[in-house]
Amino acid sequence: MTWTAEAVATRARNLRSPKFGVIAEVRKLIQGVEGVVDMGYGEPNFNTPEHIREAAKRAMDEGHTHYVLPTEGLEPLRQAISRKLQAENGIVVDPATQVLVTAGVQEAINVALLALVNPGDEVIMPDPYYYVDPLGVMLAGGTPVYTHLREENDFRLDVDDVKSKITAKTKAIIYISPNCPTGSVFPREDLQALAELCAERRIFILTDEIYEKLIYDGTEHCSIASLPAAQDITISMFGFSKAYAMTGWRVGFLVASAELVRTMLEVHTQLVLCTNSIAQHAALAALEGPQDCVEDMRRDYETRRNTLVDGLNRLGFKCKRPPGSFYVYSNVTGFGMPASQLAKILAKDARVVGYPGSAFTNGDDGENYLRFAYTKDIDSVRLALERMEKVVETLPKGGEA
Ligand SMILES: Cc1ncc(COP(=O)(O)O)c(C=O)c1O
Repeated sequence: MTWTAEAVATRARNLRSPKFGVIAEVRKLIQGVEGVVDMGYGEPNFNTPEHIREAAKRAMDEGHTHYVLPTEGLEPLRQAISRKLQAENGIVVDPATQVLVTAGVQEAINVALLALVNPGDEVIMPDPYYYVDPLGVMLAGGTPVYTHLREENDFRLDVDDVKSKITAKTKAIIYISPNCPTGSVFPREDLQALAELCAERRIFILTDEIYEKLIYDGTEHCSIASLPAAQDITISMFGFSKAYAMTGWRVGFLVASAELVRTMLEVHTQLVLCTNSIAQHAALAALEGPQDCVEDMRRDYETRRNTLVDGLNRLGFKCKRPPGSFYVYSNVTGFGMPASQLAKILAKDARVVGYPGSAFTNGDDGENYLRFAYTKDIDSVRLALERMEKVVETLPKGGEA
């Protein structure tokens, strides 16, 4: 290794999940291969709805090409966010002091962690996780502490387990609901218990609600900040990427008490100065415009989910219909081989990509799961199932042997 490579800061060198290797190995097998059904990434296949794109074009033509001041975000956008939260989430915030528009939930996560976590602090998070969460904690100098989401508990949060993980160093818990990568949704009663626990033990709550609109079967999405016990200790993070198919625009937002937002604003300004002006105008159009585009996409995802889950179960995977997000975290123990081996076989022989659970966990059961993102159209989902069926038929029935 060159001395320049060796001399980089430890914090930067550590900013790579050791689990990425397993995804890289799968992706290598499909490099340059035509016609792959890639259900690895959580990237919506839809284009951003037209009225949102038009708003962005207008913003450019009208000269909204400057820094956005104040740096917490466009005032009309913060007002629209505040109205949305009150109407949809039961969260009441002052748009002037309690809203921060960020470069996606990604920035919100890091801004919140950098604002809260001191070196040595512990942050509890569900495992399996979104890889950004443990890395964000480490970037801030903290230590991730994991609470396992178990399949037999429908991948719900186990608040008693969270309680058992609390130490004098615990600063916060960060969770995602609807969940990535499992597709579970944490019910109100569990969040009520979590809110009470965290309020009593003086622990901050960070919620990633990016999948709030991708929810099925009439399941309720509960925002913990709407519960009185959690109101002052919660940083709630929301996005446009998934529900409005706006991953490339890099815009999201967080809300919290005015006191916390003041501190996070300093971190945000230091990192990015302000969020992209054109994207903020687009986000405003997303919130204020017709919402049937969101519902149309949601229905489409629901159809794909049903087709995918039914098909996977027919093929020997085991999975229930996950109530939220656009992931199926399927149990592959019936195939009698580790998930990473199965993922490679499927990538090579079926040209279908799913990610092994070991990429999302610190625990030892990751090799029991394959995650599929149903972010491809229904025909592609059907094609993936047909191709996988042909490959799976050739596998030894290892799990049953
Ligand atoms: C759980 C979760 N949070 C945050 C993000 C990033 O969101 P954004 O595009 O708003 O930065 C993703 C993207 O895949 C995600 O799955």
